[in-house]
Amino acid sequence: MLKGKRILLGVTGSIAAYKSVEIVRRLVEGKADVTVIMTEAACRFVQPLTFESVSGNPVFVNPFEGYFKHIELIKKADLFLVAPASANTINKFACGIADNLLSTAWLSYEGPSLVAPAMNSRMYKNPVVQKSIKELARRGVIFAGPETGDLACGEEGIGRLSEVSVIVEHVKAILADKDLKGHRILITAGPTREALDPVRFLSNRSSGKMGFALAEVAVRRGADVTLISGPTALKPPADINFIPVESARDMGKAAFKVFPKSTSVIMAAAVCDFAPAASGKSKFPKSGALTINLKGTPDILQMMGRKKGRRILVGFAAESGKDIKRAMGKLNSKNLDLIILNDITQKGAGFDVDTNIVTMITKKGETTDLPKMKKEEVANIILDSMIKLKSKN
Ligand code: CTP
Repeated sequence: MLKGKRILLGVTGSIAAYKSVEIVRRLVEGKADVTVIMTEAACRFVQPLTFESVSGNPVFVNPFEGYFKHIELIKKADLFLVAPASANTINKFACGIADNLLSTAWLSYEGPSLVAPAMNSRMYKNPVVQKSIKELARRGVIFAGPETGDLACGEEGIGRLSEVSVIVEHVKAILADKDLKGHRILITAGPTREALDPVRFLSNRSSGKMGFALAEVAVRRGADVTLISGPTALKPPADINFIPVESARDMGKAAFKVFPKSTSVIMAAAVCDFAPAASGKSKFPKSGALTINLKGTPDILQMMGRKKGRRILVGFAAESGKDIKRAMGKLNSKNLDLIILNDITQKGAGFDVDTNIVTMITKKGETTDLPKMKKEEVANIILDSMIKLKSKN
């Protein structure tokens, strides 16, 4: 998503300027080409050399260094990001003041732009700053944050620079092709919990990372996403319909409410196959050995397979070994279009890791082995396949 994209990053005079170094690192890690423009005030907080080293590109501060530097810089940019953006710079942008290289470049730029403000909450709430932000938003500038929390000045309130990951996610969302526009995708994630009593439950090791990555990437690519998830430690992506659930039964109920309106379903949840036949209303006392009777849970995907219509159904098969025959059996019995097989015995695959190693298998038996990659990259490839299958459907 970031590969080959040219991002112009403006850094202004704020203590949060040091966080921009990490923004550059994350963008460069995604193979974006980042050029930094700093204001004089920003150089008091962080040396240009730091940005130069991390971005691998020269850093620009002085407007009189070379002719028409501002024009040369903005012509190449796919996105103009300003983080942190001080109150002073935001006001200048809104009024069209061009008195340094950053504000001159901004005034000449016409493409997509993202501004992440950082300042004291009194400054942020000042009517002049609010008016400037409104004016810029009206002209199509996208804002990330600011957040509420501890401020560098020791006060608490609104004005903190958004988390680096949030700013980077905004960048990705702005730059992504909106090729999933019109798709309404139902994604499930995480484990389910099957209560034994009010305190204890049966569950599994799923962290939800694969399903959350799918939701994040799908919404970035323009899809209308509903994410139904069992309990996880993850923060749901912005701009999605998030439905938290506990048990397999709850997940099924929630899923079937959304299913009729969905164009595709991706069941990444590790749904518990069994639940206690009876769950106590009060905590069982300790009394030596305990025998628990289990009953099967409803197979959500199989039930959807029976009512599939023209939807694309994608399932996951977590197996102990690369068992294509077994995964293919699940694909056929659940009437799926695509199944993602992951061999959980491999290092860097399966539960609670940021990477995955999967084999994608289509209804026709075509298999694609993907090497170990980040779950976000796997998510993009799964969604690419889903679009292809949908276009043939
Ligand atoms: N699944 C489901 N409802 C269940 C169990 C599984 O919707 N009660 C879905 C999973 O989300 C996954 C697919 O079915 O997309 C395959 O799940 P998996 O656990 O690998 O297979 P099972 O069918 O449960 O079979 P087994 O546990 O015997 O491997």
